[in-house]
Amino acid sequence: MLYENRGPFRTMVDVEKGVVDRSIFADQDIYELELERIFARAWNFMCHESQIPKAGDFFLSFIGEESVIATRDKKGELQVLLNSCRHRGNAVCRAESGNARSFLCTYHGWTYGLDGQLIGVPGYKDFYHEQLDKSQWGLVKAGKVASYKGFVFATMDPEAPDLEEYLGEVGRMGLDLLAHKGEALVAVDGVQKNLIGCNWKLAVDNLFDWYHPQISHASANMADFRRQQSRLTDEERELAAKAGIAGGGGAQRPHRVVMGAYGHAIGGPRLTQEARDARQQLRGKIGGLINDEFRETPAAKEALGEVGADTAGHPNIFPNLWMTNHQLSLRLPRGPGQCEIWWFTFVPKEATEERREEIIHGANHVFGPAGMLEQDDGENWDQSTRAMRGVVAQRYPLNFAMGLGQHAVQQASDTSYIDTLINEHAQLWTYRAWAEWMDAESWAALKENHSVRPAADSRP
Ligand code: FES
Ligand SMILES: [Fe+2]
Repeated sequence: MLYENRGPFRTMVDVEKGVVDRSIFADQDIYELELERIFARAWNFMCHESQIPKAGDFFLSFIGEESVIATRDKKGELQVLLNSCRHRGNAVCRAESGNARSFLCTYHGWTYGLDGQLIGVPGYKDFYHEQLDKSQWGLVKAGKVASYKGFVFATMDPEAPDLEEYLGEVGRMGLDLLAHKGEALVAVDGVQKNLIGCNWKLAVDNLFDWYHPQISHASANMADFRRQQSRLTDEERELAAKAGIAGGGGAQRPHRVVMGAYGHAIGGPRLTQEARDARQQLRGKIGGLINDEFRETPAAKEALGEVGADTAGHPNIFPNLWMTNHQLSLRLPRGPGQCEIWWFTFVPKEATEERREEIIHGANHVFGPAGMLEQDDGENWDQSTRAMRGVVAQRYPLNFAMGLGQHAVQQASDTSYIDTLINEHAQLWTYRAWAEWMDAESWAALKENHSVRPAADSRP
């Protein structure tokens, strides 16, 4: 057992005091256990169905650090295969996406079908004397593959609960906030990918962080990075503040945190009736910043429910999938001090060319390697990660106590949420879940020992 001398992982995340041990952002052994206990066990986002619509279409993705091929076989079924030849381990697929009839290993030529079956072995008769049982040497397949409203996920662990159960109300709400932005969503060609020198958990933590924008992104706001604020009249600017729109919203606007099983959470602004009315009036004037008309459609209303209707924060599907606006981001682990950030962009199938351009412009200018916000964020995460390595620094935990014990949990149907101002509840909920995942030796243990949601009236 790795951490006998330091107690279980839950001692590194003190949810009573709101402190977190810095070593979890730096330690190589902890990182390697994360790959095993979190990534190899969780449902990981692969791609969107619109990226692999036809038989033979494939898209290369990752489970932790391991390359996997998400593909559609001849029967049209989704398959997720480990991209490693069973002979000597070579990658059998090098292209990021495309269409194939089979996967030929470039080392010795073993060939696999779209469903992972080993279908061709050079020298099968002469060198193997027909003694190789091909049915036993197919590509390693994911334990389970499933799609939720077009978003394809896979888990390597057959013991994992089914996807919908795993997502629970909070995970589904998070995906619904994106899925219902159009009658059907289509992924824009190309995924933006870049490497940031940070621990993956810091990049996740930050997606709930509404404390930093006024400082970290002050210069981006001054430069009017979305080209929106400067177009507004004084009257519109006032409405924008009421609508809670970035730059005009101020730090005092209401926030909502929603917390669910296995670490899924949503944190950020709440759309009060006043905010919605202001948005209604601004619609059409401020372009891409108003994108919540979708909430009024019957399908979205039904999917989001009472709590989701008011929720406008950032969802994280544990461990590492963030949805914001028309985009979705993966924070892929690349060692304790490196994280590969992927950005997928979606447009509603029915969008006009103008709307499509507006969405893509926003996607390129806010996040991703050229995004004005991510450049600010990445620099902070990089510096934080460097400092976490310090032997002296590691003697002192990090503070996650903002709002701790201050706000009572409310419940509607099965959903637990807190209405408050800016806070760190979602971050602490995520680290609490992280410790539960890390302490559990199997899915059975995790199912038994995980926080389902905070109790009504409790004050986490
Ligand atoms: S490594 Fe793939 S055929 Fe040998
Ligand atoms: Fe940021």
